[in-house]
Amino acid sequence: MSTWQLRAELVNSLSPEPRSHRLHRMQEGVMGLIRMSLDAKEFAYCPYSKFRVGAAVLAHDGRVFTGCNVENACYNLGICAERNAISKAVSEGYRDFKAIAIASDLSDQFISPCGGCRQFMREFGASWDVYLSKPDGSYVETTVDELLPGSFGPEDLKMKKVHMPNEF
Ligand code: THU
Repeated sequence: MSTWQLRAELVNSLSPEPRSHRLHRMQEGVMGLIRMSLDAKEFAYCPYSKFRVGAAVLAHDGRVFTGCNVENACYNLGICAERNAISKAVSEGYRDFKAIAIASDLSDQFISPCGGCRQFMREFGASWDVYLSKPDGSYVETTVDELLPGSFGPEDLKMKKVHMPNEF
């Protein structure tokens, strides 16, 4: 441990941050992530559904990647905001996520991610946070696991299997 690290630990132990301050700081962080998802929504390309969605995914080191839905004249090629944001992160070497915030224009309900996006999030772990927001910034906090209970993930591919016969 370096002298600097030792000193930092000492300072932290001498003046621990009060719980209320920590909660306030965390809330500010969540609000910031939601703000970014709301901003990302502004770029939504959705001429067919006219349903704008934005997402902001927070990586382990604090970096945030944003995404919006991008539709296509060949309808089934459209991509959701969440998948867009996560793909941007993965394509830059990030796979360890802490949280994702999702925004839409729905004023009376919190945006609910589609099943495909739930599975896409699940690929990168089941126990990270998902914030479902409304345009006024209010939100509910959930997790990937809560959104997709009993899910199938990369670990399942490594589980014990029965011997597969060569021929049927
Ligand atoms: N959409 C998302 O971007 N994320 C979701 O979780 C729900 C749906 C997009 C896809 C499509 O462009 C539009 O919303 C309407 O379904």
